[in-house]
Amino acid sequence: MDVKHLKLSRKQGVPIYLQLYRRYREAITSGKLRPGDRVPSVRSLASELGLARGTVEMAYQILVSEGYFMARGAAGTVVSPRLGTLPEPGDAKAPAPPAHASPHPPAMGIEAQPFQLGLPALDAFPRKTWARLAGRKLRTLGTAAMTYPDPAGYEPLRRAIATYLGISRGIACSHRQVFVTAGYRGALELVRRTLLQTGDQGWYEDPGYILARQFLERAGLRLEAVPVDEEGLNVRLGQQRAAHARFVVVTPTHQSPMGMALSLPRRLELLDWASRRRSWIVEDDYDSEFRYHGRPLPALKSLDRDGRVLYTGTFSKVLFPGLRLAYLVVPAPQVEKFEEMANHLPGPGSILPQAMVADFMEQGHFARHLRKMRTLYAARRGYLVDALIQTMGERLHVQPQAGGIHVLAHLNARQSDKALVAAATAKGLALHALSDWRLRKSPQGGLLMGFANFATAEEALAPVRRLKTALAQS
Ligand SMILES: Cc1ncc(COP(=O)(O)O)c(C=O)c1O
Repeated sequence: MDVKHLKLSRKQGVPIYLQLYRRYREAITSGKLRPGDRVPSVRSLASELGLARGTVEMAYQILVSEGYFMARGAAGTVVSPRLGTLPEPGDAKAPAPPAHASPHPPAMGIEAQPFQLGLPALDAFPRKTWARLAGRKLRTLGTAAMTYPDPAGYEPLRRAIATYLGISRGIACSHRQVFVTAGYRGALELVRRTLLQTGDQGWYEDPGYILARQFLERAGLRLEAVPVDEEGLNVRLGQQRAAHARFVVVTPTHQSPMGMALSLPRRLELLDWASRRRSWIVEDDYDSEFRYHGRPLPALKSLDRDGRVLYTGTFSKVLFPGLRLAYLVVPAPQVEKFEEMANHLPGPGSILPQAMVADFMEQGHFARHLRKMRTLYAARRGYLVDALIQTMGERLHVQPQAGGIHVLAHLNARQSDKALVAAATAKGLALHALSDWRLRKSPQGGLLMGFANFATAEEALAPVRRLKTALAQS
Protein backbone atom coordinates (compact mmCIF):
# COMPACT_ATOMS: atom_id res chain seq x y z
CA MET A 1 0.00 0.00 0.00
CA ASP A 2 1.37 3.40 -0.96
CA VAL A 3 1.60 5.49 2.22
CA LYS A 4 0.42 8.56 0.25
CA HIS A 5 -3.03 6.95 0.36
CA LEU A 6 -3.13 7.21 4.12
CA LYS A 7 -4.80 10.65 3.78
CA LEU A 8 -4.16 12.22 7.16
CA SER A 9 -5.55 15.64 7.94
CA ARG A 10 -4.88 18.07 10.76
CA LYS A 11 -8.24 19.70 10.13
CA GLN A 12 -10.40 16.74 11.15
CA GLY A 13 -10.10 17.39 14.88
CA VAL A 14 -9.02 13.72 15.29
CA PRO A 15 -5.48 13.18 16.61
CA ILE A 16 -3.08 12.16 13.84
CA TYR A 17 -1.99 8.93 15.56
CA LEU A 18 -5.65 7.88 15.74
CA GLN A 19 -6.20 8.67 12.06
CA LEU A 20 -3.10 6.67 11.20
CA TYR A 21 -4.26 3.75 13.33
CA ARG A 22 -7.71 3.82 11.70
CA ARG A 23 -6.31 4.01 8.15
CA TYR A 24 -4.18 0.92 8.79
CA ARG A 25 -7.05 -0.88 10.44
CA GLU A 26 -9.30 -0.13 7.45
CA ALA A 27 -6.56 -1.18 5.04
CA ILE A 28 -6.26 -4.53 6.83
CA THR A 29 -9.95 -5.27 7.26
CA SER A 30 -10.67 -4.26 3.65
CA GLY A 31 -7.94 -6.56 2.36
CA LYS A 32 -5.70 -3.80 0.93
CA LEU A 33 -3.06 -5.08 3.31
CA ARG A 34 -2.83 -8.85 3.76
CA PRO A 35 -1.51 -10.95 6.64
CA GLY A 36 2.27 -11.10 6.39
CA ASP A 37 2.62 -7.83 4.39
CA ARG A 38 5.47 -5.63 5.58
CA VAL A 39 4.72 -2.12 6.77
CA PRO A 40 7.24 0.74 6.77
CA SER A 41 9.43 1.24 9.81
CA VAL A 42 8.36 3.93 12.29
CA ARG A 43 11.28 6.08 11.25
CA SER A 44 10.72 5.91 7.50
CA LEU A 45 6.94 6.43 7.75
CA ALA A 46 7.43 9.40 10.08
CA SER A 47 9.91 11.00 7.68
CA GLU A 48 7.78 10.26 4.59
CA LEU A 49 4.66 11.77 6.14
CA GLY A 50 6.46 14.58 7.95
CA LEU A 51 5.25 13.39 11.38
CA ALA A 52 6.94 13.09 14.75
CA ARG A 53 8.24 9.59 15.36
CA GLY A 54 6.25 9.40 18.62
CA THR A 55 3.02 9.88 16.68
CA VAL A 56 3.69 6.95 14.38
CA GLU A 57 4.96 4.89 17.30
CA MET A 58 1.74 5.42 19.22
CA ALA A 59 -0.39 4.23 16.27
CA TYR A 60 1.88 1.19 15.78
CA GLN A 61 1.72 0.36 19.48
CA ILE A 62 -2.07 0.17 19.38
CA LEU A 63 -2.00 -1.88 16.19
CA VAL A 64 0.46 -4.32 17.75
CA SER A 65 -1.42 -4.56 21.05
CA GLU A 66 -4.67 -5.26 19.20
CA GLY A 67 -3.06 -7.95 17.09
CA TYR A 68 -3.20 -6.18 13.70
CA PHE A 69 0.56 -5.78 13.47
CA MET A 70 3.33 -8.04 14.61
CA ALA A 71 6.70 -6.55 15.51
CA ARG A 72 9.58 -8.81 14.42
CA GLY A 73 12.48 -6.89 15.88
CA ALA A 74 15.24 -6.34 13.33
CA ALA A 75 13.11 -8.06 10.65
CA GLY A 76 10.62 -5.16 10.79
CA THR A 77 6.89 -4.96 11.38
CA VAL A 78 4.32 -6.95 9.40
CA VAL A 79 0.54 -7.32 9.29
CA SER A 80 -0.05 -10.19 11.70
CA PRO A 81 0.10 -13.50 9.81
CA ARG A 82 -2.29 -14.91 12.44
CA LEU A 83 -5.18 -12.83 11.15
CA GLY A 84 -6.04 -15.45 8.50
CA THR A 85 -8.91 -14.51 6.18
CA LEU A 86 -10.58 -11.27 7.07
CA PRO A 87 -14.13 -10.27 6.22
CA GLU A 88 -14.56 -8.05 3.18
CA PRO A 89 -15.96 -4.57 3.85
CA GLY A 90 -19.74 -4.56 4.15
CA ASP A 91 -19.59 -8.35 4.10
CA ALA A 92 -20.02 -9.01 7.77
CA LYS A 93 -22.53 -11.78 7.06
CA ALA A 94 -20.31 -13.74 4.63
CA PRO A 95 -18.51 -16.78 6.01
CA ALA A 96 -16.77 -13.83 7.35
CA PRO A 97 -16.02 -13.27 9.57
CA PRO A 98 -26.58 -23.20 38.58
CA ALA A 99 -26.32 -20.33 40.95
CA HIS A 100 -23.05 -20.07 42.86
CA ALA A 101 -23.35 -18.47 46.25
CA SER A 102 -20.76 -15.75 46.80
CA PRO A 103 -18.53 -16.69 49.69
CA HIS A 104 -17.53 -13.06 49.98
CA PRO A 105 -20.37 -10.68 49.24
CA PRO A 106 -19.02 -7.19 48.58
CA ALA A 107 -18.75 -4.95 51.63
CA MET A 108 -21.52 -2.40 51.17
CA GLY A 109 -22.32 0.89 52.85
CA ILE A 110 -19.21 0.78 55.04
CA GLU A 111 -15.73 2.31 54.79
CA ALA A 112 -13.40 0.74 52.20
CA GLN A 113 -11.70 -2.43 53.48
CA PRO A 114 -8.03 -3.22 52.68
CA PHE A 115 -7.77 -4.87 49.22
CA GLN A 116 -11.46 -4.30 48.49
CA LEU A 117 -12.10 -4.91 44.80
CA GLY A 118 -13.87 -2.56 42.45
CA LEU A 119 -13.40 0.66 44.41
CA PRO A 120 -11.68 3.67 42.85
CA ALA A 121 -9.50 6.01 44.94
CA LEU A 122 -12.21 7.57 47.07
CA ASP A 123 -9.81 10.07 48.68
CA ALA A 124 -8.87 11.49 45.27
CA PHE A 125 -12.37 12.28 44.05
CA PRO A 126 -12.70 16.06 43.44
CA ARG A 127 -15.39 16.65 46.03
CA LYS A 128 -15.16 20.45 45.96
CA THR A 129 -15.88 20.57 42.23
CA TRP A 130 -18.66 18.02 42.74
CA ALA A 131 -20.24 20.08 45.51
CA ARG A 132 -20.03 23.23 43.38
CA LEU A 133 -21.75 21.47 40.47
CA ALA A 134 -24.43 20.14 42.83
CA GLY A 135 -25.18 23.61 44.22
CA ARG A 136 -25.38 25.18 40.78
CA LYS A 137 -27.51 22.38 39.40
CA LEU A 138 -29.96 22.53 42.30
CA ARG A 139 -30.42 26.25 41.69
CA THR A 140 -30.76 26.05 37.93
CA LEU A 141 -32.67 22.87 37.14
CA GLY A 142 -36.10 23.96 35.90
CA THR A 143 -39.51 22.55 36.68
CA ALA A 144 -39.16 20.05 33.79
CA ALA A 145 -36.60 18.29 35.97
CA MET A 146 -39.27 17.90 38.64
CA THR A 147 -41.60 15.93 36.38
CA TYR A 148 -41.20 12.21 35.56
CA PRO A 149 -37.70 11.55 34.20
CA ASP A 150 -37.01 9.85 30.85
CA PRO A 151 -36.56 6.14 31.73
CA ALA A 152 -33.78 5.94 29.12
CA GLY A 153 -31.81 8.58 31.04
CA TYR A 154 -31.33 12.33 31.20
CA GLU A 155 -30.77 13.52 27.64
CA PRO A 156 -27.73 15.80 28.23
CA LEU A 157 -25.98 12.90 29.95
CA ARG A 158 -26.81 10.54 27.07
CA ARG A 159 -25.32 13.10 24.69
CA ALA A 160 -22.19 13.56 26.82
CA ILE A 161 -21.68 9.77 26.96
CA ALA A 162 -22.13 9.42 23.17
CA THR A 163 -19.51 12.14 22.58
CA TYR A 164 -17.10 10.59 25.09
CA LEU A 165 -17.44 7.12 23.53
CA GLY A 166 -16.82 8.53 20.06
CA ILE A 167 -13.58 10.16 21.11
CA SER A 168 -12.24 7.67 23.64
CA ARG A 169 -13.59 4.27 22.60
CA GLY A 170 -13.97 4.56 18.83
CA ILE A 171 -17.75 4.02 19.08
CA ALA A 172 -19.90 6.03 16.69
CA CYS A 173 -23.39 6.24 18.17
CA SER A 174 -26.21 8.71 18.62
CA HIS A 175 -27.47 9.68 22.06
CA ARG A 176 -30.68 7.72 21.36
CA GLN A 177 -28.66 4.52 21.37
CA VAL A 178 -27.38 5.32 24.87
CA PHE A 179 -29.44 4.15 27.87
CA VAL A 180 -28.42 5.30 31.31
CA THR A 181 -28.93 2.50 33.84
CA ALA A 182 -28.71 1.82 37.56
CA GLY A 183 -25.24 0.24 37.55
CA TYR A 184 -24.01 -2.55 35.28
CA ARG A 185 -26.69 -4.87 36.55
CA GLY A 186 -29.29 -2.33 35.43
CA ALA A 187 -27.81 -2.60 31.93
CA LEU A 188 -27.83 -6.40 32.05
CA GLU A 189 -31.43 -6.36 33.22
CA LEU A 190 -32.47 -4.13 30.33
CA VAL A 191 -30.73 -6.45 27.84
CA ARG A 192 -32.22 -9.56 29.42
CA ARG A 193 -35.76 -8.19 29.39
CA THR A 194 -35.54 -6.79 25.87
CA LEU A 195 -33.68 -9.50 23.97
CA LEU A 196 -33.51 -12.70 26.01
CA GLN A 197 -35.85 -15.25 27.56
CA THR A 198 -35.68 -17.31 30.72
CA GLY A 199 -33.64 -20.45 30.06
CA ASP A 200 -31.59 -18.91 27.23
CA GLN A 201 -28.04 -20.13 27.11
CA GLY A 202 -25.03 -17.80 27.08
CA TRP A 203 -21.24 -18.05 27.17
CA TYR A 204 -19.57 -16.70 30.26
CA GLU A 205 -15.85 -16.13 30.66
CA ASP A 206 -14.17 -18.62 32.98
CA PRO A 207 -12.94 -17.10 35.23
CA GLY A 208 -15.28 -14.13 35.03
CA TYR A 209 -16.85 -11.33 37.05
CA ILE A 210 -18.60 -13.13 39.89
CA LEU A 211 -21.39 -10.63 40.65
CA ALA A 212 -22.72 -10.42 37.09
CA ARG A 213 -22.55 -14.20 36.81
CA GLN A 214 -24.67 -14.61 39.94
CA PHE A 215 -27.08 -11.97 38.70
CA LEU A 216 -27.59 -13.69 35.33
CA GLU A 217 -27.98 -17.13 36.86
CA ARG A 218 -30.53 -15.89 39.34
CA ALA A 219 -32.39 -14.26 36.46
CA GLY A 220 -32.88 -17.75 34.96
CA LEU A 221 -30.22 -17.71 32.23
CA ARG A 222 -28.02 -20.77 31.64
CA LEU A 223 -24.32 -19.97 31.54
CA GLU A 224 -21.79 -22.11 29.71
CA ALA A 225 -18.24 -21.71 31.02
CA VAL A 226 -15.85 -20.69 28.23
CA PRO A 227 -12.20 -20.63 29.29
CA VAL A 228 -9.98 -17.62 28.83
CA ASP A 229 -6.31 -17.98 27.85
CA GLU A 230 -3.59 -15.46 27.00
CA GLU A 231 -5.71 -14.12 24.10
CA GLY A 232 -8.87 -13.78 26.19
CA LEU A 233 -12.11 -15.70 25.63
CA ASN A 234 -11.52 -18.92 23.68
CA VAL A 235 -14.15 -18.46 20.97
CA ARG A 236 -13.47 -21.80 19.33
CA LEU A 237 -14.16 -23.65 22.60
CA GLY A 238 -17.31 -21.60 23.06
CA GLN A 239 -18.53 -22.81 19.68
CA GLN A 240 -17.66 -26.40 20.55
CA ARG A 241 -19.44 -26.26 23.88
CA ALA A 242 -22.50 -24.19 23.00
CA ALA A 243 -22.62 -23.19 19.33
CA HIS A 244 -26.27 -22.14 19.63
CA ALA A 245 -25.90 -19.86 22.62
CA ARG A 246 -28.09 -16.75 22.42
CA PHE A 247 -25.57 -14.43 24.01
CA VAL A 248 -22.06 -14.00 25.38
CA VAL A 249 -20.82 -11.68 28.10
CA VAL A 250 -17.23 -10.63 27.55
CA THR A 251 -14.63 -8.15 28.90
CA PRO A 252 -12.50 -7.59 25.77
CA THR A 253 -10.35 -4.64 26.82
CA HIS A 254 -9.18 -5.95 30.17
CA GLN A 255 -10.48 -9.41 30.98
CA SER A 256 -12.02 -9.56 34.42
CA PRO A 257 -10.20 -10.79 36.45
CA MET A 258 -7.19 -12.11 34.45
CA GLY A 259 -6.31 -8.81 32.76
CA MET A 260 -5.44 -9.73 29.14
CA ALA A 261 -7.04 -8.08 26.10
CA LEU A 262 -9.12 -10.11 23.65
CA SER A 263 -6.86 -10.46 20.59
CA LEU A 264 -7.98 -9.13 17.23
CA PRO A 265 -8.34 -12.60 15.63
CA ARG A 266 -10.60 -13.62 18.53
CA ARG A 267 -12.59 -10.38 18.24
CA LEU A 268 -13.25 -11.09 14.59
CA GLU A 269 -14.12 -14.74 15.32
CA LEU A 270 -16.57 -13.67 18.02
CA LEU A 271 -18.26 -11.07 15.80
CA ASP A 272 -18.46 -13.59 13.00
CA TRP A 273 -20.08 -16.20 15.25
CA ALA A 274 -22.60 -13.67 16.60
CA SER A 275 -23.47 -12.48 13.07
CA ARG A 276 -24.01 -15.99 11.76
CA ARG A 277 -26.03 -17.12 14.76
CA ARG A 278 -27.86 -13.83 15.31
CA SER A 279 -26.59 -14.00 18.90
CA TRP A 280 -25.84 -11.04 21.14
CA ILE A 281 -22.48 -9.93 22.49
CA VAL A 282 -22.59 -8.00 25.75
CA GLU A 283 -19.34 -6.06 25.94
CA ASP A 284 -18.50 -5.12 29.54
CA ASP A 285 -16.01 -2.24 29.27
CA TYR A 286 -15.78 -1.63 33.00
CA ASP A 287 -12.28 -0.16 33.47
CA SER A 288 -10.76 0.53 30.06
CA GLU A 289 -9.89 4.09 31.08
CA PHE A 290 -7.08 2.88 33.30
CA ARG A 291 -4.09 1.69 31.37
CA TYR A 292 -0.52 2.25 32.45
CA HIS A 293 1.13 1.62 29.08
CA GLY A 294 -0.05 3.11 25.81
CA ARG A 295 -3.58 4.21 25.03
CA PRO A 296 -6.77 2.40 26.04
CA LEU A 297 -7.66 -0.16 23.37
CA PRO A 298 -10.67 0.69 21.20
CA ALA A 299 -13.84 -1.17 22.12
CA LEU A 300 -15.00 -4.37 20.42
CA LYS A 301 -18.12 -2.36 19.57
CA SER A 302 -16.01 -0.21 17.24
CA LEU A 303 -15.65 -3.28 14.95
CA ASP A 304 -19.33 -4.24 15.08
CA ARG A 305 -20.62 -3.87 11.52
CA ASP A 306 -23.64 -6.10 11.96
CA GLY A 307 -25.20 -4.58 15.09
CA ARG A 308 -24.64 -7.57 17.39
CA VAL A 309 -22.77 -5.81 20.23
CA LEU A 310 -24.47 -4.32 23.28
CA TYR A 311 -21.82 -2.12 24.85
CA THR A 312 -21.82 -1.34 28.58
CA GLY A 313 -19.72 1.07 30.62
CA THR A 314 -19.97 2.22 34.22
CA PHE A 315 -19.23 5.33 36.26
CA SER A 316 -18.36 3.16 39.27
CA LYS A 317 -14.62 3.11 38.54
CA VAL A 318 -14.15 6.49 36.91
CA LEU A 319 -16.25 8.40 39.49
CA PHE A 320 -17.57 6.31 42.40
CA PRO A 321 -19.89 3.30 42.79
CA GLY A 322 -22.27 5.05 45.20
CA LEU A 323 -23.60 6.98 42.19
CA ARG A 324 -25.11 3.76 40.77
CA LEU A 325 -24.82 5.02 37.21
CA ALA A 326 -23.82 2.96 34.19
CA TYR A 327 -24.81 2.95 30.53
CA LEU A 328 -25.71 0.67 27.68
CA VAL A 329 -25.26 1.40 23.97
CA VAL A 330 -27.63 -0.61 21.79
CA PRO A 331 -27.43 -1.14 18.01
CA ALA A 332 -29.48 1.49 16.12
CA PRO A 333 -32.12 -0.98 14.83
CA GLN A 334 -32.85 -2.06 18.43
CA VAL A 335 -33.45 1.42 19.86
CA GLU A 336 -37.25 1.34 19.75
CA LYS A 337 -37.47 -2.09 21.38
CA PHE A 338 -35.22 -0.90 24.19
CA GLU A 339 -37.14 2.36 24.61
CA GLU A 340 -40.36 0.41 24.88
CA MET A 341 -38.91 -1.92 27.54
CA ALA A 342 -37.24 0.94 29.45
CA ASN A 343 -40.72 2.43 29.94
CA HIS A 344 -41.63 -0.56 32.10
CA LEU A 345 -38.50 -0.69 34.26
CA PRO A 346 -37.38 1.49 37.18
CA GLY A 347 -34.67 3.25 35.10
CA PRO A 348 -31.62 5.07 36.43
CA GLY A 349 -33.42 7.08 39.12
CA SER A 350 -33.21 10.75 40.02
CA ILE A 351 -32.24 13.41 37.47
CA LEU A 352 -29.91 15.35 39.78
CA PRO A 353 -26.91 12.95 39.84
CA GLN A 354 -27.28 12.38 36.10
CA ALA A 355 -27.29 16.13 35.45
CA MET A 356 -24.21 16.55 37.64
CA VAL A 357 -22.31 13.82 35.77
CA ALA A 358 -23.31 15.46 32.46
CA ASP A 359 -21.88 18.80 33.65
CA PHE A 360 -18.79 17.07 35.02
CA MET A 361 -18.14 15.58 31.58
CA GLU A 362 -19.08 18.62 29.48
CA GLN A 363 -16.99 21.04 31.55
CA GLY A 364 -13.80 18.97 31.18
CA HIS A 365 -13.57 17.80 34.82
CA PHE A 366 -14.03 14.18 33.74
CA ALA A 367 -11.07 14.12 31.33
CA ARG A 368 -8.90 15.91 33.93
CA HIS A 369 -9.92 13.48 36.65
CA LEU A 370 -9.12 10.46 34.45
CA ARG A 371 -5.68 11.83 33.58
CA LYS A 372 -4.94 12.37 37.26
CA MET A 373 -6.20 8.93 38.23
CA ARG A 374 -4.08 7.13 35.63
CA THR A 375 -0.90 8.49 37.21
CA LEU A 376 -2.17 7.93 40.72
CA TYR A 377 -3.14 4.29 40.06
CA ALA A 378 0.20 3.51 38.47
CA ALA A 379 1.85 4.71 41.72
CA ARG A 380 -0.60 2.94 44.02
CA ARG A 381 -0.30 -0.30 42.09
CA GLY A 382 3.46 0.03 42.61
CA TYR A 383 2.95 0.37 46.40
CA LEU A 384 1.05 -2.90 46.55
CA VAL A 385 3.30 -4.83 44.17
CA ASP A 386 6.44 -3.68 46.03
CA ALA A 387 4.90 -4.63 49.36
CA LEU A 388 3.95 -8.08 48.03
CA ILE A 389 7.42 -8.74 46.60
CA GLN A 390 9.16 -7.44 49.71
CA THR A 391 6.97 -9.35 52.18
CA MET A 392 5.87 -12.50 50.38
CA GLY A 393 8.98 -13.17 48.26
CA GLU A 394 8.66 -16.44 46.35
CA ARG A 395 5.31 -17.37 47.83
CA LEU A 396 3.40 -15.20 45.36
CA HIS A 397 3.84 -14.30 41.73
CA VAL A 398 2.27 -11.01 40.66
CA GLN A 399 0.83 -11.17 37.15
CA PRO A 400 1.88 -8.23 34.97
CA GLN A 401 -1.14 -6.15 33.90
CA ALA A 402 -1.47 -3.35 31.39
CA GLY A 403 -4.18 -1.62 33.38
CA GLY A 404 -7.06 -1.84 35.81
CA ILE A 405 -7.40 -1.22 39.51
CA HIS A 406 -6.72 -4.66 40.90
CA VAL A 407 -3.74 -6.96 41.16
CA LEU A 408 -3.80 -10.69 40.48
CA ALA A 409 -1.17 -12.67 42.35
CA HIS A 410 -0.74 -16.41 41.76
CA LEU A 411 0.11 -18.65 44.66
CA ASN A 412 3.33 -20.52 44.07
CA ALA A 413 3.04 -23.37 46.50
CA ARG A 414 0.17 -25.86 46.39
CA GLN A 415 -1.76 -23.54 48.63
CA SER A 416 -5.54 -23.27 48.56
CA ASP A 417 -6.52 -19.72 47.68
CA LYS A 418 -9.91 -20.24 49.34
CA ALA A 419 -8.34 -21.30 52.64
CA LEU A 420 -5.98 -18.35 52.53
CA VAL A 421 -8.79 -15.90 51.77
CA ALA A 422 -10.88 -17.34 54.62
CA ALA A 423 -7.97 -16.75 57.03
CA ALA A 424 -7.39 -13.25 55.62
CA THR A 425 -11.09 -12.35 55.84
CA ALA A 426 -10.96 -13.18 59.54
CA LYS A 427 -8.23 -10.52 59.78
CA GLY A 428 -10.42 -7.87 58.15
CA LEU A 429 -8.89 -8.15 54.67
CA ALA A 430 -11.30 -8.01 51.73
CA LEU A 431 -9.40 -9.87 48.99
CA HIS A 432 -10.96 -12.58 46.79
CA ALA A 433 -9.86 -16.09 45.80
CA LEU A 434 -9.50 -16.56 42.04
CA SER A 435 -11.12 -20.01 42.41
CA ASP A 436 -14.36 -18.36 43.51
CA TRP A 437 -14.52 -16.54 40.18
CA ARG A 438 -14.25 -19.78 38.20
CA LEU A 439 -17.15 -21.84 36.90
CA ARG A 440 -15.02 -24.96 36.45
CA LYS A 441 -12.35 -26.19 38.84
CA SER A 442 -8.72 -25.40 38.07
CA PRO A 443 -5.59 -26.15 40.09
CA GLN A 444 -4.30 -22.58 39.58
CA GLY A 445 -5.13 -20.55 42.70
CA GLY A 446 -4.70 -16.81 42.99
CA LEU A 447 -5.55 -13.71 44.96
CA LEU A 448 -7.46 -10.71 43.65
CA MET A 449 -6.60 -7.49 45.43
CA GLY A 450 -7.78 -3.93 45.00
CA PHE A 451 -5.10 -1.28 45.50
CA ALA A 452 -6.79 2.02 44.62
CA ASN A 453 -7.15 3.14 48.23
CA PHE A 454 -3.55 2.58 49.34
CA ALA A 455 -2.44 6.22 49.44
CA THR A 456 1.13 5.48 50.58
CA ALA A 457 3.64 2.63 50.54
CA GLU A 458 3.10 2.20 54.29
CA GLU A 459 -0.66 1.86 53.85
CA ALA A 460 -0.06 -1.05 51.49
CA LEU A 461 2.61 -2.69 53.63
CA ALA A 462 0.54 -3.12 56.82
CA PRO A 463 -2.27 -5.26 55.29
CA VAL A 464 0.26 -7.24 53.24
CA ARG A 465 1.99 -8.15 56.51
CA ARG A 466 -1.37 -9.27 57.89
CA LEU A 467 -1.82 -11.34 54.76
CA LYS A 468 1.53 -13.01 55.39
CA THR A 469 0.38 -14.03 58.88
CA ALA A 470 -2.85 -15.40 57.38
CA LEU A 471 -0.77 -17.38 54.87
CA ALA A 472 1.21 -18.98 57.69
CA GLN A 473 -2.05 -19.90 59.46
CA SER A 474 -4.02 -21.24 56.51
C1 LIG B 1 -16.06 -6.76 35.60
C2 LIG B 1 -16.95 -5.65 36.07
N1 LIG B 1 -17.94 -5.23 35.29
C3 LIG B 1 -18.76 -4.24 35.66
C4 LIG B 1 -18.62 -3.61 36.88
C5 LIG B 1 -19.51 -2.45 37.21
O1 LIG B 1 -20.52 -2.73 38.02
P1 LIG B 1 -21.44 -1.54 38.60
O2 LIG B 1 -21.75 -0.60 37.48
O3 LIG B 1 -22.66 -2.30 39.04
O4 LIG B 1 -20.71 -0.93 39.72
C6 LIG B 1 -17.62 -4.03 37.74
C7 LIG B 1 -17.46 -3.42 39.07
O5 LIG B 1 -16.72 -3.84 39.91
C8 LIG B 1 -16.74 -5.08 37.32
O6 LIG B 1 -15.73 -5.49 38.10
